[in-house]
Amino acid sequence: MSLNEKYEKISAAYLQDIKEAGTLQDVEEVRVKYIGRSGEVNKIFKELGILSPEERPAWGKKLNILKSDITKSVEDKKEQFSQKDEKEDIFDPTMPGNYSRFPSIHPVTGILREIKDIFSSLGFGVAYGPEIESSYHNFTALNIPEDHVAREMHDTFYLNQEDKLLRTHTSPVQVRVMENNDPPYNIIVPGKCYRRDTIDASHSPVFHQVEGLMVDKNINFADLKGVLAEFAKLFFKGSDVKTRFRPSYFPFTEPSAEMDISCRICQGKGCSSCSQKGWLEILGAGMVDPEVFKHCNVDTEKWQGFAFGMGVERLAMLKYGISDMRFFYLNDIRFLEQF
Ligand code: PHE
Repeated sequence: MSLNEKYEKISAAYLQDIKEAGTLQDVEEVRVKYIGRSGEVNKIFKELGILSPEERPAWGKKLNILKSDITKSVEDKKEQFSQKDEKEDIFDPTMPGNYSRFPSIHPVTGILREIKDIFSSLGFGVAYGPEIESSYHNFTALNIPEDHVAREMHDTFYLNQEDKLLRTHTSPVQVRVMENNDPPYNIIVPGKCYRRDTIDASHSPVFHQVEGLMVDKNINFADLKGVLAEFAKLFFKGSDVKTRFRPSYFPFTEPSAEMDISCRICQGKGCSSCSQKGWLEILGAGMVDPEVFKHCNVDTEKWQGFAFGMGVERLAMLKYGISDMRFFYLNDIRFLEQF
């Protein structure tokens, strides 16, 4: 290779090497390779002896320029690295912070957990049942015969499969528990329910209920009132919530009642949230109807008890002051991260 060819090769190669150097260490290696004591440029210097004395000075000048070009490139590149380091060290308090979002529990799940905790502190276990139910378990065994108006009231989703539907309440699980176990019973049943409702501020085709069933030898209506009033006190803790029971009707309980709590917005005085009544309904309940016991082969002479059912979304709305049920299902992070 002629001197000229070597010169051209080095001139192109060092630029490429500098460009590729990714660390200070790399740049130093490039420096040693080209302008170190036994580097490429000095190697050419040593070969200048083969030139005639007239040619030599011009080559010497050319190589010195190359050497200082390389030195400059090496220094510039080193400078770039140290500037970068400095930048990384600067703490700028006016920069927007990078915070991470902490995952939180969905309010419906949170309320379900609270309800389970409260009832387990009152001695209740937890049972589950299928969401695809037979019309026998959802209606017939609960004393709602085929032509009964209550079936209409439930706006049921029927499945193509014969006799199958999406359960309209958690009450069929009462039946399943009693069919498969001997009394006494002391359980709650959290779960999803389905009704052919259009979605609005207080309805959704999918919603959650918690059912309860307490059956033993001496359970009476006073136990029902005591357990449910205690539940309300624990659930709305810190507020002096009042409860009242109103007569009602369910085919599977007799007598039946609905429990109201005093409106937490107006403290019972009457406001737009409680339609000026001062009270808000939170659950349905009653003593288990002997007809239901008969379907489940439970001896009505020996056993009696009560059942109740509450809407979870409704309880969450009352607890947190949420005005529209749709918020639960929109998956809007601004809503969800408040819980
Ligand atoms: N299943 C009833 C409903 O969905 C609630 C309820 C349950 C009432 C148990 C009484 C006893 O409205």
